Amino acid sequence: MKVIITDNYQESCRIAAEMIRDVIAEKPNAKLGLATGGTPVPIYKNLIKMNQQGEVDFASVHTVNLDEYIGLEGSHPQSYRYFMDTNLFDHININKANTYVAKGTGNPADNAAELEQKVFENGVPDLQLLGIGNNGHIAFNEAGNHLVAVSHIETLTESTIEANARFFDKKEDVPTTSITMGMRGILAAKMPLLVATGASKAEAIRGLLTNDEITTQNPSTFLKLHPQATVIIDKELAQLAGVQ
Ligand code: GLP
Repeated sequence: MKVIITDNYQESCRIAAEMIRDVIAEKPNAKLGLATGGTPVPIYKNLIKMNQQGEVDFASVHTVNLDEYIGLEGSHPQSYRYFMDTNLFDHININKANTYVAKGTGNPADNAAELEQKVFENGVPDLQLLGIGNNGHIAFNEAGNHLVAVSHIETLTESTIEANARFFDKKEDVPTTSITMGMRGILAAKMPLLVATGASKAEAIRGLLTNDEITTQNPSTFLKLHPQATVIIDKELAQLAGVQ
């Protein structure tokens, strides 16, 4: 696992954006796997700025997102489609037809199958951006007794619902199920790139970076199977997690 320890979260986000920029510079029609949550927002801000300054061109880039809440229309402010549009796609020169976020409404099994198809359509993502949940979940692959290989319907854990409640008016509004890319899709990416910050991620990052164990109780540990997996954390989190 390649680990980059930065001075602060701002620097982590700049480096992540530069890595994405470099992937596109090398391959203008790159396919990016993208993530939602609070962590990637400044990464997207950096990319928007780079695009406005002519440093990165999204005209031929394709994207596929990790997950979506079941029950939310793409126009719902808390849907991940809406998040991607407002935090990135509306501000860069990407063709929205080339962006894919799983559908939150309609038949969930069909929507999961469509996501799986999109992950592999025309080649796997060149880079897959990832955040991490407090319990080590990646995308919505929740910590528990088993993981699922393919894109599927996932019931959210109490810990995830609580963590994501901050984006909703009240906890009861957080959907309890989601469509998520499975572990196969995430590990199929040429380079999974996980960015994390904050004390709440310390235990999960400890499990990811301070030993060689893989456990379904911390889904992020499966990234240890990927030779190109890269993790960016700031020194504050590194210290809390006991990462040297
Ligand atoms: C959600 C998303 C994950 C994300 C996680 C952490 O559960 N499905 O993809 O990694 O939140 O989000 P945050 O970056 O806000 O801590």
